[in-house]
Amino acid sequence: MTRANLSINSDRLWATILETAEIGGTPKGGVCRLALTEEDRRVRDWFAAACREAGLELAVDSMGSMFATRPGRDMTKAPVAIGSHLDTQPTGGKFDGILGVLAGLEIARTLNEADIETDAPLMVVNWTNEEGARFAPGMIASGVYSGEVDMAFALGRPDRDGVRFGDALEAIGYRGTEPVGERRFSAMLELHIEQGPILEADGKTIGIVTAGKGSVWADGRVLGKDSHAGSTPMPMRRDALTAFSEFALAVERIAREHGPDGVGTIGVAEALPASRNTIPGEMRFTLEYRHPERAMLDSMDRAIASAASAVASARGVSIGIDRIWRKDPVSFDPRICRAVEAAAAELGLPARTITSGAGHDAFFAATVAPTAMIFVPCKDGVSHNEEESATQADCAAGANVLLRAALALAG
Ligand code: GLV
Ligand code: MN
Ligand code: MN
Repeated sequence: MTRANLSINSDRLWATILETAEIGGTPKGGVCRLALTEEDRRVRDWFAAACREAGLELAVDSMGSMFATRPGRDMTKAPVAIGSHLDTQPTGGKFDGILGVLAGLEIARTLNEADIETDAPLMVVNWTNEEGARFAPGMIASGVYSGEVDMAFALGRPDRDGVRFGDALEAIGYRGTEPVGERRFSAMLELHIEQGPILEADGKTIGIVTAGKGSVWADGRVLGKDSHAGSTPMPMRRDALTAFSEFALAVERIAREHGPDGVGTIGVAEALPASRNTIPGEMRFTLEYRHPERAMLDSMDRAIASAASAVASARGVSIGIDRIWRKDPVSFDPRICRAVEAAAAELGLPARTITSGAGHDAFFAATVAPTAMIFVPCKDGVSHNEEESATQADCAAGANVLLRAALALAG
């Protein structure tokens, strides 16, 4: 194979997608591989073995992020990073995250076979806990890597059972020794499924991601009063659940008012004490909202705070919203976006620019190195769902764009 017709092995890439989907595979055909669980350990072990077999040198930092380097001719040059994440949502699919890691591995295998040496090294990265499903917030390891998230805060984050991130990391044996943030790169590329409907609807194979939505994540609590369900008259109740319901609808309304790009979600809500004949005195919930424009995210902040205080005073409850994270909208590097665009054009693939609604580790990488993302379509735009699906041809097309862009950047 010459440089001009160099192509990844589509069947081999697809086989690794199917093989790794068995680690945490669910009966419905999805994947449950929450960060720092036994399943995460197994997929990491799989990835580490595959990297070693491909001759990559593996390092793990003390947030558990894995960096596998394929040496270049000039080792004084900072590597071009290709990466994403191996963890999933509880009802996740086979593609969210892992596609971007496996494509990096496939690129290393392809270059080995073609005996191609790049000028700068290439580095395949698995960022720990991108999803934030077990330990909030998401993208925590790339966040610490970038310096925007405090490491002590990250290591202390609890899951629902009170297990701390740092202890879970230790338990699976992936608390590496490398100081976080030490391993710098000259550029980073992340290939990912779109997780939305735009590419499919527009008949495009490649999304050149130029920007990403900002987001706010919070933990919330409504405090009313638990009392007897049979004997407490309706006017005397301070029902946390019904008050919460009004607040939840207000979040939905506010997101719509900031549409079409504003979104707001309450993904977890728990009534306490959780007894059918006691009026719920407490609600605990998660809240997140996103917008691609900073001023609009600020406006959502204000609207949500004022909705909470209006519901609280009308209902005689208190509503506390403890913000754990805010990531402002990001713009990707125009030079790296052009490299992606040129790669898609060389391959004759239909492409368009797009904004990411989902969060990605590339958002944090972008604050320390020139970064861009490549999207490929997923069926009906569905993701964070066991039905998540993408075609072999689209995954291969994305990986080939990634290969060419990486080669252009690494020389
Ligand atoms: C990550 O999956 C996110 O966008 O929340
Ligand atoms: Mn992802
Ligand atoms: Mn995800």
